[in-house]
Amino acid sequence: MLSRTALSRQAASLRRSSLFAQRFASTKSLRDTLQEVIPVKQEQLRKLKSEHGQTVVGDVKVDNIIGGMRGLKAMLWEASVLDPIEGIRFHGLSIPDCQKVLPAAPGGKEIIPESMLWLLLTGQVPTPEQTQALSRELAEKGDLPKFVEQLIDSFPRTLHPMTQLGMAVAALNHDSSFQAAYERGMKKPEYWTHTLEDCINLIARLPALAARIYRNVYNPGTELATIDKNLDLVGNYSNMLGYGDNHSLTEYLRLYIALHGDHEGGNASAHTAHLVNSTLSDPYLSYSAALFALAGPLHGLANQEVLRWQLAMQKELGDNITHEDIKAYLWKTLKSGQVVPGYGHGVLRNPDPRFIALQEFCDSRPELKGSPIIDLVNKTFQVAPDVLKEHGKTKNPYPNVDATSGMFSFVEFKYYTVIFGVSRALGALTQLVWARALGLPLERPKSMSMDALEKFIKNQ
Ligand SMILES: CC(C)(COP(=O)(O)OP(=O)(O)OC[C@H]1O[C@@H](n2cnc3c(N)ncnc32)[C@H](O)[C@@H]1OP(=O)(O)O)[C@@H](O)C(=O)NCCC(=O)NCCS
Repeated sequence: MLSRTALSRQAASLRRSSLFAQRFASTKSLRDTLQEVIPVKQEQLRKLKSEHGQTVVGDVKVDNIIGGMRGLKAMLWEASVLDPIEGIRFHGLSIPDCQKVLPAAPGGKEIIPESMLWLLLTGQVPTPEQTQALSRELAEKGDLPKFVEQLIDSFPRTLHPMTQLGMAVAALNHDSSFQAAYERGMKKPEYWTHTLEDCINLIARLPALAARIYRNVYNPGTELATIDKNLDLVGNYSNMLGYGDNHSLTEYLRLYIALHGDHEGGNASAHTAHLVNSTLSDPYLSYSAALFALAGPLHGLANQEVLRWQLAMQKELGDNITHEDIKAYLWKTLKSGQVVPGYGHGVLRNPDPRFIALQEFCDSRPELKGSPIIDLVNKTFQVAPDVLKEHGKTKNPYPNVDATSGMFSFVEFKYYTVIFGVSRALGALTQLVWARALGLPLERPKSMSMDALEKFIKNQ
């Protein structure tokens, strides 16, 4: 290991040596060369951060440039705004407000994605009639093109369900109204109507896509239910998953999908959809890209990781798990260098109100009383914040929405992020309609190299 002074000297010498000399004097392999160059760059980054983190470069600080743009206000997003303490508000409505005013499915009590979608798109609370009309429209548009069914059926069962979902969504662009209209030379004021048409068609088809993937991976050879035109989006999704007669799970799914719909624009999946769509790529391609961002373990895949972690804890600790057992397991996770999945957040600094709403749902259901996994989620919530505070790294020691993963009654953990993917379409696609209606431009931030940053700072 080289000392910091030696690394700085090496950095200077690397800069001095000409490209010509490097090209002809060395026979080192690519890997060996990188192994030499990376520590030098790491040291350069460390110095920039510690010595100039707060230095202003143009409109932002060095910390913003090298720190993943945390908290940087640089993006328009209409449907929701996230407050670090209070959590998400959809057009000004908190989660409890939405639970009071947004229509449920006939026979149900929970918010349904259709009413959330209406709110996100329009900023208005729909009537039950408007919600039902939207349910009907989605059901009528919900069937998949034959070639997409064949595409999904051709995937190996071992291909991760999120990869399958992203690929199938991209393939739906075969029928993109936006792309066809663009080729015909549509004018800018028409952009949003074709975007809306694609977005509604995509949301309508997501349950059939996601259910087909579930069937192929976990229950191959079984029949898939057909779409019932009189049912809401999640009623049909639950039917196709094979849980249609489980009212409690269907209601949970409705709430889960409605609440995961939007979390302002800076999160990786929403931001990806927005960025890709700003090139006038159609909504299918834009959302497909978003799904691959969602598939990362620091983002949507965390819900898979939570359940995997919980199941491993259950296996190791057996029955009657105590708070002390969980505490020890949390420390074991942290000391092995892993994050505690389902805890922490890029923006939130309090327990996630979506976590609280889903937890309250489970607490209110007598049939879920005594569920070992729900007990585990609740007990973890009681001890994890103190452990994470003592650990001292995360800025937010509280649960995010993914900490509820185990509350679902099925244990196919690789499927969890797909359900998130069905949901996040509501908000991500809403913004595409608004971006095109408002004529927002191509996103093109300015990047800088570390050398350029240093030069800029020196010349200030
Ligand atoms: C969500 C998450 C990615 C936010 O990242 P972030 O904005 O960089 O969070 P912070 O600023 O609080 O991170 C500061 C440090 O705390 C660590 N940290 C954050 N959350 C942690 C957790 N749950 N367990 C252990 N360490 C955590 C980070 O890894 C980072 O460590 P580093 O300085 O060694 O790189 C992060 O909290 C995390 O990895 N959580 C677990 C995964 C998860 O639940 N994701 C779903 C998010 S909705």
